[in-house]
Amino acid sequence: MYNLAVFGNPIEHSLSPTIHAEFAQQTGVEVNYDKILAPIDGFNHKAQQFIDEGATGFNITVPFKLDAYNFSTKLTLNAKTAGAVNTIKVEGSELVGENTDGIGLVNDLVNNLGVNLKDKTILILGAGGATQGILLPLLKENPKRVMIANRTASKAQQLQQDFAQYGNTCGFGLEKIKNEPIDVIINATSASLDKKMPDIASGCANHAICYDLMYGEQTPFMNWAKDNNASMIADGIGMLVEQAASSFEFWTGVKPDTHTVIKNLRS
Ligand code: ATR
Repeated sequence: MYNLAVFGNPIEHSLSPTIHAEFAQQTGVEVNYDKILAPIDGFNHKAQQFIDEGATGFNITVPFKLDAYNFSTKLTLNAKTAGAVNTIKVEGSELVGENTDGIGLVNDLVNNLGVNLKDKTILILGAGGATQGILLPLLKENPKRVMIANRTASKAQQLQQDFAQYGNTCGFGLEKIKNEPIDVIINATSASLDKKMPDIASGCANHAICYDLMYGEQTPFMNWAKDNNASMIADGIGMLVEQAASSFEFWTGVKPDTHTVIKNLRS
């Protein structure tokens, strides 16, 4: 029996228990997956309690991904470059920290949506934790270039420097986005949470594949993409299921099928 959970605050509306229950049923792997509310300043204590009770691993969501990074005793390269951990596996006395967010995004784009990222130009809006988490997996797909555009230009430039060793990147302010088509645009800002769309030149969306990391409703970014002739528009529900599938495989060694789970969540 795999003893698993997701830690967050808030955590009540997390879809992870539903997703992992479907994976378990589908694969026949015996899994117990709970949701655990940790106090804002009490992640380590709650996590240690769960480990002492025999946890095999757990997911970590907002606002504890940095706590989980510091709590891990070993980090994968993905987690290291992301600067955040969303999955921990208990391996004897080691706590192995992984980040499956970026792998989840790439798997959704490549396997579910049929988007080949090789030699493509990718524009990421935002330079916060979400962007840092997806950069390495995106660069591993060998795109022509990953452009990071942020309201605060210096943060985009910093990420550009940090990831330059992994591929062709550049970083600049949102106002520098040209009014010219781009292959793939990813909204990694938190603007959708405020029902806002970053103020950018609209011509870049023409025939572009537009992907919002947020999910749950038609976001302002998705409306903007539609109004500006995007060729494909997606929200982050596929990424959510794919990052869960990668975590499930990280713990159990079994790769679940994601298609029916995504379909069920959408309906
Ligand atoms: P996350 O972990 O979700 O990435 P974050 O680290 O707080 O959250 O980063 C939020 C990102 O969304 C930042 O890039 C932020 O831009 P700034 O660095 O300039 O603050 C961006 N963002 C939030 N609201 C925005 C808005 N209305 N327009 C443009 N960018 C926005």
